Amino acid sequence: MSEPASQTVESPFAMPLEEAMSTQRAIRRLRPDPVDDALVLRLVELAQKAPTGSNAQNWEFVIVKDRAVKEKLGALNRGAWRLYGGIGRWLAREDPAMQRIIKAVQWQADHFADIPVIVVACLRGPRVPFPPVAATSYYGSIYPSVQNLLLAARAAGLGAALITLPLWSHFLARRALGLPWGVSPCAVVPLGWPTGRYGPTTRKPVGEIVHVDRYGNQPFRGEKAS
Ligand SMILES: Cc1cc2nc3c(=O)[nH]c(=O)nc-3n(C[C@H](O)[C@H](O)[C@H](O)COP(=O)(O)O)c2cc1C
Repeated sequence: MSEPASQTVESPFAMPLEEAMSTQRAIRRLRPDPVDDALVLRLVELAQKAPTGSNAQNWEFVIVKDRAVKEKLGALNRGAWRLYGGIGRWLAREDPAMQRIIKAVQWQADHFADIPVIVVACLRGPRVPFPPVAATSYYGSIYPSVQNLLLAARAAGLGAALITLPLWSHFLARRALGLPWGVSPCAVVPLGWPTGRYGPTTRKPVGEIVHVDRYGNQPFRGEKAS
């Protein structure tokens, strides 16, 4: 008897979790080639496996493929980047690693409408600013799902990055996407097949950011976990 298809056809997400987490990074240079709707839908389905405050599951994901809408988001991105990028260039004038990131962000700004899919992760419901835990819970209900999406994209070999510059004006972003007032855009993920390769990310040694029992007690300083 032949095996069921699910056991013989390898999932596009079969990459080991540790490898996906270690190599997931902001990939901004993307090819214009289309990405299958079914693949994008599965990414969002995996994003939905994330937790939400009070199990509200109040996500909404807008998958943008229409060039006219991408151009509107691209114009918003460029507008914010003109200011932020100018400051960033000045701050990075002696930092070659940061200059490389700035070049990639510039590339993304210049090619925004050519990126095949832009996923906009949104939340339904009001953002209550007080008490602080309410604000934390609000954004805490979208970012785990966005990280799931980024990891799933990584496993599938798709390039992706979490960006927020196109959302500098919620009013304009809402208008571009036709969002009702009760739905807020929180994060944007441009998706596509990468022009380059995924590589390891650069992060501080874990011992530098771990405190045991109370802030400042850092017995693991100078140590690496792996
Ligand atoms: C809340 C948030 C907002 C971000 N907004 C932007 C953005 O607007 N544009 C951009 O190019 N990257 C944005 N990033 C991505 C960071 O710049 C990126 O995570 C960082 O450069 C590390 O990249 P790496 O994972 O490739 O090492 C954002 C990340 C976060 C968490």
